[in-house]
Amino acid sequence: MAESLLCVRDAEAAATRILPADIRDFIAGGSEAEVTLAANRAALDAVFLTPRMLGGITACDPSTVLVGCQSALPVAIAPMSYQRMVHPEGELGMARAAREAGIPLTLSMMSSCPLEQVAAVGGTLWQQLYWLRDRGQVTDMIQRAEAAGCRALVLTVDVPRLGRRLRDMRNNFALPPGVTAVNLHDESASLLHRPPAGASGVAAHTNYAFDPSLSWDDVSWLRASTRLPCWSAASPRSRSPSRPCPTSGWFIPRGSWGWPAPPGKRESR
Ligand SMILES: Cc1cc2nc3c(=O)[nH]c(=O)nc-3n(C[C@H](O)[C@H](O)[C@H](O)COP(=O)(O)O)c2cc1C
Repeated sequence: MAESLLCVRDAEAAATRILPADIRDFIAGGSEAEVTLAANRAALDAVFLTPRMLGGITACDPSTVLVGCQSALPVAIAPMSYQRMVHPEGELGMARAAREAGIPLTLSMMSSCPLEQVAAVGGTLWQQLYWLRDRGQVTDMIQRAEAAGCRALVLTVDVPRLGRRLRDMRNNFALPPGVTAVNLHDESASLLHRPPAGASGVAAHTNYAFDPSLSWDDVSWLRASTRLPCWSAASPRSRSPSRPCPTSGWFIPRGSWGWPAPPGKRESR
């Protein structure tokens, strides 16, 4: 009998049985001792939805507008890199699932399938950006996202460097052959497959390629460089209070996959 996946925990348990241990750790692990990962999980588990009874309701419509895009649910898929690691179709399969569910997909800049192919699947696509030292690659990605019909840019601002992900360090984690950041033209991508001893290949590549000096001025530059709405993906407490929000809004909370960010008040504007 086929295994029934009735909730996210079922899917997680099935994936844990199937995936190689180092890939499972890359997905399920968090930064440092994973104290904040557990705290974020607990914070999410403490959110309850209040049902409205006695309303005489026979049909529910959970659809809404997210980032100016119609969505069948008040949910969008967060950017997750290198999805061909877990399935040969990678981001293409994820895009089909998002299209069928009627929800937006945020495509990671570190996608293992080309942006244009993912966009051709249809559905609502937002493009995530990291701030790279090679600004030409950022510009290229913005232009490709516009040409491919993406509806928004999502700038990750809370990973100036990838946090110390201890499981990956212990595994000397390297991407499987044939899986790479296909949207970048980047000599340092070899680090993804051949990390230094005791290091994660993804961390080595990230720390080489990312520009940690990202500032409000760069965010202003980004806004002036595109006609798409720009959103920021950040941890709850990484917002700088010193400047008014120059992006359209913030996506928070963010968990602690890339950085040990503490849980915080859920807010956005
Ligand atoms: C395997 C994996 C890859 C990720 N890759 C990216 C990425 O490329 N860009 C990014 O901004 N965030 C990335 N993230 C972070 C997620 O977008 C998300 O913020 C994080 O998982 C916390 O959200 P959650 O609490 O809903 O899990 C990744 C997370 C995972 C698990």
